[in-house]
Amino acid sequence: MTTVYHISDLHFGRERQPLVRALIEEINDSAPELVAVSGDLTQSARRREFAATRDFLAQLTPPVLVVPGNHDVPDWDVIRRLLRPWRRYGRYITEDMYPSYSSPTLAVLGLNSARRWSPHTDWSRGRLSPRQMDEVERFFSGAEPDAARVVVVHHPFIAHELVIGRGVIGRKEMALQCFGQSQVDLMLSGHLHIHHSETMAAEAGGRTLVAAQAATTLSDRLVAGYANSFNAIEIDRERIRIDIRCWLDDGGFRDCERLQYRRSAAGWEPDPARAHR
Ligand SMILES: [Fe+2]
Ligand SMILES: [Fe+2]
Repeated sequence: MTTVYHISDLHFGRERQPLVRALIEEINDSAPELVAVSGDLTQSARRREFAATRDFLAQLTPPVLVVPGNHDVPDWDVIRRLLRPWRRYGRYITEDMYPSYSSPTLAVLGLNSARRWSPHTDWSRGRLSPRQMDEVERFFSGAEPDAARVVVVHHPFIAHELVIGRGVIGRKEMALQCFGQSQVDLMLSGHLHIHHSETMAAEAGGRTLVAAQAATTLSDRLVAGYANSFNAIEIDRERIRIDIRCWLDDGGFRDCERLQYRRSAAGWEPDPARAHR
């Protein structure tokens, strides 16, 4: 098995400094194979917020894979948003909108689901495109056979009763069909500031995968009942174990929930014998 740390919705500009220091220390001490960051790096896509994000990422010693979120597009400046939505993200973080990581144990692809405009009145919604699905197929067709297959995307595939009205990702069915065909094991996302995971498959049928949400890891923009947290994930092609590490007010990240899944012929299913600690 290998270890992936999944952090999300950092929202620099609204970050809680004690958590930033504790997170850097834990990541560097634990040395996961990869740190996946599922978007909303900043609060308002301002230069100082991107600079703070860049400085934070530079202090992490493991490899890091980052995708942007809707907060990383400047929504306070419509001209900038429409003409150069990713300029600051590209300058401070990365210009790579298909970030990937490959090893004998892990094949991870990041996709940008945030958009410069939306047909909905709520421009925070995101979607994926057919072109991105072509890249998913291409990337995973070249993955090592024993590598766990992971997609990282900001917008959620799971609706949640606490945040009714915040839509799931656009073209969800198209994406789930593609991920199933590419034998994706795990999908990581954020946006709702709620930690949650479940198995899912395309409505048309096909292989199930595990969809895991992370809450906001660092910001004070909390949903009631959900602490700051991140997901510490142990994974191979047979088992996935997600330990949710919640910030407790005694000043540290602690295990607060464990979810486990195992692979069957149809894909992934919960491992009930191991569902709770
Ligand atoms: Fe967010
Ligand atoms: Fe978001």
